Amino acid sequence: MKGLQVSVTQIKIERAAKLKPKPDTAKLGFGKYFTDHMFIMDYDLGIGWHDPRIVPYGPFTIEPSAMVFHYAQEVFEGLKAYRRADGGIQLFRPEANIARMNGSNERLSIPTIDPELFLEAIITLVTLEKDWVPSEPDTSLYIRPFVIATEPHVGVHASSSYIFCIILSPVGAYYAEGLNPVKIFVESRDVRAVKGGTGYVKTGGNYAATLRAGERASQMGFSQVLWLDGVNRKYIEEVGSMNVWFKIDGECVTPMLGGSILPGVTRDSCIKILKHWGEKVSERLIDIDELFEAAHSGKLEEAWGCGTAAVISPIGEIVYDNERCCVCDGQIGPLTRRLYDSLTDIQWGRAEDPFGWITRLD
Ligand code: COI
Repeated sequence: MKGLQVSVTQIKIERAAKLKPKPDTAKLGFGKYFTDHMFIMDYDLGIGWHDPRIVPYGPFTIEPSAMVFHYAQEVFEGLKAYRRADGGIQLFRPEANIARMNGSNERLSIPTIDPELFLEAIITLVTLEKDWVPSEPDTSLYIRPFVIATEPHVGVHASSSYIFCIILSPVGAYYAEGLNPVKIFVESRDVRAVKGGTGYVKTGGNYAATLRAGERASQMGFSQVLWLDGVNRKYIEEVGSMNVWFKIDGECVTPMLGGSILPGVTRDSCIKILKHWGEKVSERLIDIDELFEAAHSGKLEEAWGCGTAAVISPIGEIVYDNERCCVCDGQIGPLTRRLYDSLTDIQWGRAEDPFGWITRLD
C-alpha cells in the first residue's frame, strides 16, 4: 500500500537548543553515539504520511500497547555518509536502501514511503548534521531509517498508525577484528529464516532470531555463525548479519536470493565490481559439503562476508560439526583485499565511481 504523501518542501526543522559534545573519533566503535537531531514523520490511516520534521534527538512517547512491542511490525535500513578528503560529504547508493525499505514495508503491511521524500529527508538531516560526519580513516556516519507500528491495540492486525524515523550515528569499525580474518561456526540447530517468511526483508525479528546462535558461537571462540537453509539444512545462506562469498576454483560464488536471504546492497555492489573486473560470478546454491570438499582439495581460495556495516569481512577458518577448514592460510585473500579497497575507495571518494553509485551532498 502507498500512503498519501506531502510535498518535499514541507520538512520543518526544530533545532536543538544545546548541541552535544562530539565523541573521540578514534574510539567510536559502532552505533553508540547519536547526533543532535532526528527526522520524524507520522502515518495515520485516512491521512497518510504527514508532518515530516527534523527535531532534537530524544525519546518518543508511545503507549505500552503500541503494536510494535507485541507483534514486531517494524522495518529498518542501514546506509552511510562518508567524508571525502576534500571535506565534502557523500552517500553510497541511497536509492537502493530506500527501495529495499519500501519492499520491507510491503512485506510487513506497512504503508510505503515516497522515495523522493525519503531521500530528501536523509539529505536534509545529514546536511544539518554535517559536523558529525567523522574524517578519521574508516569512519563514517551511519544512517538508520526505521518504521514502527504505534497503534495502541493488542489485537493482531496491521497497525493504523506508524512513526518513520531516521537517526544518525558516527561509527568506526563494526567488528573489533576489522579486516583480520574471522573464525566462523556453521550453525546446525537454529535457522535464521525460511522461504516465504521474512528473511529477505530488513525487520528486527530476523536479527532477534539469530542472537542465541551468535552467543553460543561466541562462547566457543567464534566471531560469526554461518547460516544454513531451514529446509535441507545444507545450503549456505548468510554469515552473521552479512551476505557471504566464496572463491572456489576461480569462480566467485554467493548464495542466490530466493526469499530467505537479504538482498544486500554491498552484495549487489560486489557482484557488479567483480563482473566489471571480468571475474566469473555465480549466484547459486552452495552445499556446505561442496564447500568442505573444495577446502580439502585446495580449491577454496577465499571467503568473505559483506554488508554495509562491516563492508568486507574476510573469513579465515570455518568449523562444521567436527570438521574444520582453513581459508587462504587464515590470511586475507588477494581478491577480498582488492574488493575491500575498491569499494571503500569509491565510498570515501578516493576513486572514480564508474557505476553512478555516489550522491554528493555538496
Ligand atoms: C549491515 O551489515 O549493514 C547489517 O545489516 C548489520 C546491521 C544490522 C548493524
